Amino acid sequence: MAKIKSAYFCQSCGYESAKWLGKCPSCNQWNTFVEEVIEKPTAGNAAVWKTSTGGAQRVNKPSKLEEIESATEERLLTGDEELDRVLGGGLVTGSVTLIGGEPGIGKSTLMLQLALNIKQKRVLYVSGEESEQQIKMRAERITKTPQADCFILTETSTQNIFKQLEQLAPEILIVDSIQTLHSAHIESTPGSVSQVRECTAELLRFAKETATPVFLIGHITKDGAIAGPKILEHMVDTVLQFEGDRHHIYRILRSIKNRFGAAAELGIYAMHGNGLREVSNPSEVLLSQRDEELSGISIGATIEGARPMVIETQALVSISAYGTPQRSATGFDTKRMNMLLAVLEKRCGFRLSAKDVFLNIAGGIKVEDPAIDLSIVAAIISSHEDIPVSSKICFAAEVGLSGEIRAVNRIEQRISEAEKLGFEKIFISNYNLKGFNKDKFKIELVTVSKIEEVFSALFG
Ligand code: TYD
Ligand code: MG
Repeated sequence: MAKIKSAYFCQSCGYESAKWLGKCPSCNQWNTFVEEVIEKPTAGNAAVWKTSTGGAQRVNKPSKLEEIESATEERLLTGDEELDRVLGGGLVTGSVTLIGGEPGIGKSTLMLQLALNIKQKRVLYVSGEESEQQIKMRAERITKTPQADCFILTETSTQNIFKQLEQLAPEILIVDSIQTLHSAHIESTPGSVSQVRECTAELLRFAKETATPVFLIGHITKDGAIAGPKILEHMVDTVLQFEGDRHHIYRILRSIKNRFGAAAELGIYAMHGNGLREVSNPSEVLLSQRDEELSGISIGATIEGARPMVIETQALVSISAYGTPQRSATGFDTKRMNMLLAVLEKRCGFRLSAKDVFLNIAGGIKVEDPAIDLSIVAAIISSHEDIPVSSKICFAAEVGLSGEIRAVNRIEQRISEAEKLGFEKIFISNYNLKGFNKDKFKIELVTVSKIEEVFSALFG
């Protein structure tokens, strides 16, 4: 009988060690090593994805860069405009895309919807999580007229999946989820580092050999990383994150890594009773409809990915009932909020240290663009003074530590988005004025260079 081989794997980064270690030398996490049984595939083992070279060792020779023919990668349009944009203009043949997200956010729905709606492509949806009936029920919710070539397979063994793949030869493969698969070559349980790594490697080989695009759905851990090893993210071509607040209807599909397009691209969906619907005009839905002007609300012109978006920021500043004031932010970095509060305290003399401050970005969206700073500052001042900011004004500038208003990138796009949506004034940094033709805009540009100026320009 062959000796059982085992090794210890860091569950956080996939580092392999022959012995148990307390601290991972690779990612410095403590107590992450777990023993997993591994077995190296022997020559006589069951089917792996057969390589076109018949398993023989292929020897690659170095070639001169200029002699390599440049190929324009073919893009397959999925029919879902948001997804196509996040992928960098459609699906690349032979690419492997990993979609991560919290449970219940809508990963399975997004992928099933793709399988049902894409035109005239044979799609195989492999599920290790749900039964055929459950998938059928979901499909009926999503569309009444599914495309004819959508196949469902409930299976978790990669070897069995490959057998079906050979027969069916799908043009797109979707796997829900990578953590439920197991390969016969590895003994450890599904979802463990070595299993996830092996199954991904096998699917990767399949994708590259047959030029079939593959989508993998991946679970994420409590702290938001894609479960299983970080290594998974290195292996695949594209990593997309599906995020949002489960209690809101909006969902964001963000590209974190993309070998075939810009990272940090963004798609927005709304979850309805009959599936996900694309949101093509995010600005209009992210502004709350209000008739009267309320204090603590202001509007920022941000850019997420390549798209300008106008987003409402809300602040509530109130006297703290306790010794330690509360500070909380939804959709915005709390550390950055504290920094802005400190700047307001020091530069403008607002006594905010004894106040509770709550911050919220409308629509359950997370904003990382620093150009939202000025809008947040305006919302905080407005709530503190209890004077509304006119709903015809919007902001696009970063705030520095010394209270200076800093320039932001792609200011023209922000201004034209604000103009398009009917704003009358936009506050920008003085330093942003160079390099574009201001006369083509009808919207009034208010330029500021210090935070004090913003206060006097707003409330006189
Ligand atoms: P699901 O795709 O199962 O999430 P994941 O695969 O990421 O775990 O999404 C499940 C949630 O979406 C569930 O709470 C119900 C909701 N939902 C709708 O609101 N409308 C729909 O049409 C569908 C199919 C699901
Ligand atoms: Mg699911």
